[in-house]
Formats: sequence, C-alpha cells, structure tokens
Amino acid sequence: MALGYNSRPILPESTPMRATARAQPNIALIKYWGKRDTHRNLPAVGSISMTLADLYTSMQVEEDASLDADVFELNGRGETKMLTRVSRCLDRVAGETRPKVRVISQCNFPIAAGLASSAAAFAALVVAANAALHCEHDDAALASLAGRASGSAARSLLGGFVELENRDADIEVRSLLTEHEWPLQVVVAITTADSKPVSSGDAMEISRETSPFYDRWLDQQPADLDAARDAIANRDFARLASIAEHNCLKMHSVMWGSRPPIVYWNSATLACMQTIRKLQADGVAVFFTIDAGPQVKAVCLPAEAARIQQALAATPGVTDVMLTGLGPGAAVVTSQ
Ligand code: DP6
Repeated sequence: MALGYNSRPILPESTPMRATARAQPNIALIKYWGKRDTHRNLPAVGSISMTLADLYTSMQVEEDASLDADVFELNGRGETKMLTRVSRCLDRVAGETRPKVRVISQCNFPIAAGLASSAAAFAALVVAANAALHCEHDDAALASLAGRASGSAARSLLGGFVELENRDADIEVRSLLTEHEWPLQVVVAITTADSKPVSSGDAMEISRETSPFYDRWLDQQPADLDAARDAIANRDFARLASIAEHNCLKMHSVMWGSRPPIVYWNSATLACMQTIRKLQADGVAVFFTIDAGPQVKAVCLPAEAARIQQALAATPGVTDVMLTGLGPGAAVVTSQ
C-alpha cells in the first residue's frame, strides 16, 4: 500500500496497534559535529560510523485509546525528561492527529553518557512507530525521520559501516560494508555512568557560535570522509586508525576552543588513551575514539580484543569494560 508522508491506512477497528523494534548504538569514526539547520536538525557535515552488536535499546509502541497524552517508560520507570522529544518524533512519523501511545523502552547500557543512547533510542522508536501505527515509510524516510530527532540516530538504521551524507534539504544513509564484511570489535571503557553536563546538540551550537576552529573543522571534513571511506573499502586498519583518531581529537579541539569550553573528558579518559598508546607501541592493532562523553571506545581486530579489554579494565578510573562486535541496523522484533 503506497502512502504519502505522515498518512495512515484505514484499518479494521480490531487491528492491534503495537510493535517492538530494537536498535543498536553506533560509534562515529568520522564525527558529526555541528548543524546546518537547527530547526530540521540537519548536520553541517557528513559522518561515518559503525553500528554495534551487543548494546541495544528496544522500544515498544502501543496505541492506548484511554490515554490523554503519550506515556514514556524507560527501564521500568516513567520518564518525563525525554517525553517531549519522543512525542515530537512520533508526530513526525505518524502525523499530529495520531492516537496517543504508550512507549516502553529497555536499554542495556548507560544513558546520556556518550554511548549514543539517543541514536539507538530514536532509531528504534521510528521503526517501532512505523510498524505499530501502520505508516509504511520506506527505509530512506525512516532514516530522515530518525535524524530529525537525533542526527546520529539515522546511522543506526543500518548495520556495519555506515555513511551519512548531506543531500540538498535532507540526509541519506548508506552502507559501506556490512558487519560481516569487516568484523571489527569495540571495547568500551566506562569511566563514569553520570549523565553528560551539556547535550551534544547544545554543545554543537556553542561550538558553531564561538569556536575559532569550527570553520576549519567544516572545511576539512570532506577529506577525512574520503580517507575513512577508502580505508574501509580496503579494510586498511592502520589507515582507518590514523584518520579516526585525528578526526576525534579535532572534534574535541573544536569543543575545547569553544566559550565556555566544552570538556567531556575526565582523568580516566586520558588514562585510557595512554593505555591504548602503549598497546599501539607494542604493535597491537587498536585505536581510540571518544564522543560527547568521557567513555573511551577502543576499536580493534578480533584477535586483540581480550588483551585490550584486560588492559583497559586495569586502567585507573575505569569502572567497567564492555566488548562488542559490529551488528545490524534497527529492526522490528515483534509486531501485531
Ligand atoms: C559526538 O546525534 O547526539 O556523538 O542531533 O543534537 O541529537 P543531536 O546530536 P547527536 O550528536 C552526536 C555527536 C557525536 C558524534 C557522532 O555521533 O557523529
């Protein structure tokens, strides 16, 4: 059934309006930092990421005729802070005249701590809402809708290595390699489970308005994307390591040069980077990347993962380590 944007098919009264989708967070190798349109939440730059396997968020969306307003529950508790963002996202998926829904979310990793929890959440939400409310958006439309809620969420629609490109007045995501074609692993070192002091969206705007490095960041992004795309196509780990670390540190330099400065790191973040430098000096194929939070992600070849996990677990200030491979994109897991 072909449908226009935001329109819904007419279904028999008895058709249950419920679906659950699951999505994994993604880790950016070439980062999205800055918006070209805050109203539509369009990124200023393209980005490249890897979708993870073992960290996930599930979202169940269920129509509930008894509700006057949407309800959002996260890990068994009512959650009001994210509710407005969730409702707006649902309005964009199903139209403002949609029924009120109960959204039940489960997340198996720390939230709002630089682990792309919003990427997984909004990717799962658009996919679940699309199925529950019978909207029939195609994959491209779902990526665009996820991106409106959180830029990085669009990338979690796909698995493996994903590129997000700016296209005129929208974005487009495409797969560069599947999770099976280059099965890298990621060791995530948790240095605190505290929420970040400033959201990435707000921090990006502070950077755009005040950082003397922001324009250079924009200028250089196409070359970084080219280098990473090429490294991924050739499965060239050393080249990917070099460009990903450079791009990560450049993004944080933009933040550090902002006024007020945006510093997401803590002392354990730096200690983890030192641990990774030591491993690299010993010939271990590993590199770090850090997003809008103090956690460090060590990307490696599978054979090195156990050694890296041990070294990071022994690094002062690390409270936990998680190991994950690369995984698939967001998908419906149950629908009726
Ligand atoms: C540092 O996608 O969280 O993780 O669009 O405002 O929701 P909003 O931002 P968000 O920003 C992610 C920033 C980053 C880099 C990245 O994932 O590319």
